Amino acid sequence: MKHVKKLVSLLLCLCMAGMMLTGCSSVGNGKRIIRIAHMQSETHPEHLGLLKFKEYVEENLGDKYEVQIYPNELLGGAQKAIELTQTGAIDFTVAGTANLETFADIYEVFSMPYLFTSEEAYHATMQDTEYMNNVYKSTDEAGFRVLTWYNAGSRSFYATKPINEPADLKGLKIRVQQSPASIAMANAFGAAASPMSFGEVYTAIQQGVIDGAENNELALTNNKHGEVAKYYAGNKHQMIPDMLIGNLKFLNGLSPEELEVFEEAARLSTEVELEEWDEQVQEATEIAKNDMGVTFMDVDVQVFKDAVADVQQNMLDSNPDIADLYEHIQEVNAQYEGKGDD
Ligand code: GCU
Repeated sequence: MKHVKKLVSLLLCLCMAGMMLTGCSSVGNGKRIIRIAHMQSETHPEHLGLLKFKEYVEENLGDKYEVQIYPNELLGGAQKAIELTQTGAIDFTVAGTANLETFADIYEVFSMPYLFTSEEAYHATMQDTEYMNNVYKSTDEAGFRVLTWYNAGSRSFYATKPINEPADLKGLKIRVQQSPASIAMANAFGAAASPMSFGEVYTAIQQGVIDGAENNELALTNNKHGEVAKYYAGNKHQMIPDMLIGNLKFLNGLSPEELEVFEEAARLSTEVELEEWDEQVQEATEIAKNDMGVTFMDVDVQVFKDAVADVQQNMLDSNPDIADLYEHIQEVNAQYEGKGDD
């Protein structure tokens, strides 16, 4: 399967490289093909959101554009897909902010453990498009811009061994995303951080190269990690959003009317994704528990928070670029304190 995926990916890349050289990315019917890459399966909320994006763009600009969606890391892992979007080989990619850190270090803020104090504060921050649009411009120099966000839930540790408290992470090799802040976060918990792309995690756990990983509940089912890692801690150390990024040259080349269509398509895709998310997490939890035999640990989240209490300040000290956004998020946190979950 892995080889097939690699071959498909290679063929697509060769094909796209050819198209870039000839300056042509249209099909026989003369339409400009819009390519979107993402890392998830075809049942994942993000894929469903992107289907809405496709539908809206084609409904409004269908005589000119055809949208093609490439799921399952078909065009490569997040880093590769971002690079393809940067050069314009493809037009859009969905990637988590951890993968954007190397392009704009303001995104490190989302890797801070326990940054948001409630789900409500997280959603309110991300849905404040006016504020976030300034953050989204931070990758302009790198040649791409964020159009919208997607909920990726909260991340917890899971492993082949039970994790009841941070001490249980000591010495465990835990896969993290390929970002400096994610590595620092896992190490701060006492784990041995092992960065690799999402698609490599299943085999790495299966072969004992790593002891576990950290992610939302959908990773257990959609990515089948629950087959090889039977203990999910539920310590909720991060809420890291995924972002729909678009090639800046492409976006700047659109007429104002066209841009409006793409922006509305992005907004609608988020609406669909958010609607799907909670339901799918609930379903995934049930399937992981009942069908895959995953144990959901009932941990004391506060103990995990205490274990990394210094990390936020250390990150603020080493990266002044995150200060404003961090302060903004603290204000939003304060607004929701005592109103929702903790
Ligand atoms: C989640 C998230 C992805 C991310 C992945 C990972 O699935 O939605 O954007 O790439 O975790 O841990 O790599």
